[in-house]
Amino acid sequence: MSGKFITLEGGEGAGKTTCLKHIEKLIRHAGIDLCVTREPGGTRTGEKIREILLDRGNIDILDETELILMFAARAQHLNELIRPTLAAETWVLCDRFTDATYAYQGGGRGISKERIAELEQWVQQGLKPDLTLLLDLPVEVGLQRAGQRSTPDRFESEDVAFMQRMRSSYLDIAAREPERVKIIDSSQPLENVLLQIDHIFTEVLAG
Ligand code: TMP
Repeated sequence: MSGKFITLEGGEGAGKTTCLKHIEKLIRHAGIDLCVTREPGGTRTGEKIREILLDRGNIDILDETELILMFAARAQHLNELIRPTLAAETWVLCDRFTDATYAYQGGGRGISKERIAELEQWVQQGLKPDLTLLLDLPVEVGLQRAGQRSTPDRFESEDVAFMQRMRSSYLDIAAREPERVKIIDSSQPLENVLLQIDHIFTEVLAG
């Protein structure tokens, strides 16, 4: 037996933080042990790598460096936290995981899926989330919402075309893996978004 590995994904302004808190509440209320974490990050070393990746001042980071740093943080995260937690039958709820790499470094930066898949295989050895919720909404709507927030990081500073490619990569993954990846229409008012999540979790928590 092992805990369930659940990930949450979405573009800018999709309401990821609010939804994460809601999911956390649903799982904890069901009496299930849960560890909430995030990528890039989740460990001491991973959080240091995150600082490098998100710092807007780092204008010289190459696409390859960015990709490898994502997987470096992930290797640390998987071995130090995710695998041992799942093995202890505790569930893991992770704010972003490898689908974000296919969407941002693949779709956004244009790195080939094959190259990402090589690193995925090396680092994850077949481990994938049991369930992924994709908060999807049109890029313009998301940017309008996100625009009301503080200073953008290195990824939030990317242009609309980058965000469009990122969104279609996420939707491609969801189309290829409908069993694992559930699309949530996040253009809806918040209460409807949370209802969509409740609906999915009624099944997850029953099984
Ligand atoms: P967030 O936690 O606020 O969403 O910020 C993390 C940023 O890192 C977000 O803009 C997406 C980006 N990211 C990637 O580009 N690739 C990845 O593999 C992951 C996990 C995140």
